[in-house]
Amino acid sequence: MTLQEDAHGGDIAERTEKRWATISIVIIVLLALLASFAGIHQATMPQARVETTDPARLHLSGEFVESNLGTAIGADGAITVRAIGQQYSFTPSCILVPAQTPVTLRATSADVVHGILIQGTNVNTMLVPGYVSEQFMRFERTGDYLMPCQEFCSFGHEGMWGKVKVIDKADFASRARNGGRLSCVGE
Ligand code: CUA
Repeated sequence: MTLQEDAHGGDIAERTEKRWATISIVIIVLLALLASFAGIHQATMPQARVETTDPARLHLSGEFVESNLGTAIGADGAITVRAIGQQYSFTPSCILVPAQTPVTLRATSADVVHGILIQGTNVNTMLVPGYVSEQFMRFERTGDYLMPCQEFCSFGHEGMWGKVKVIDKADFASRARNGGRLSCVGE
């Protein structure tokens, strides 16, 4: 090897090293941006924002009393589904929502750790006693979606299933006319 070739080789090594250093910095910056975006838009699972609730008093008062469970339409038209998981069912066992509408799911557990997963969607969150899990969802198509518990919660775990029924917007609006909380239990 001549001296010149050696110098040339060193050049290439230096350039390659700089290129890789730049690529790794770009990757780190992208990851940091992604993490910030997910955090700001509350898209991390579990949520970075912590909301607590008392699992022993869910049925007595507050947001998760039985009469407040199901689908609610706020004064501003915002749709919120409230549900609880307990060994071994969800209440309500059938969640009714309109299609093509943003929906907020708020849920918690009355006993042990459960999970809510809605088939064919990216809705998948744990229900931890003492904490409120909040997730945003939107269904484009009407139909029935299975909602199994996805966290092992003891003997009855595999029998813990619910359902989400997505109906037409107009249909939902007419059902909502009488006020109260909507669900599709028994349908
Ligand atoms: Cu509840 Cu598994």
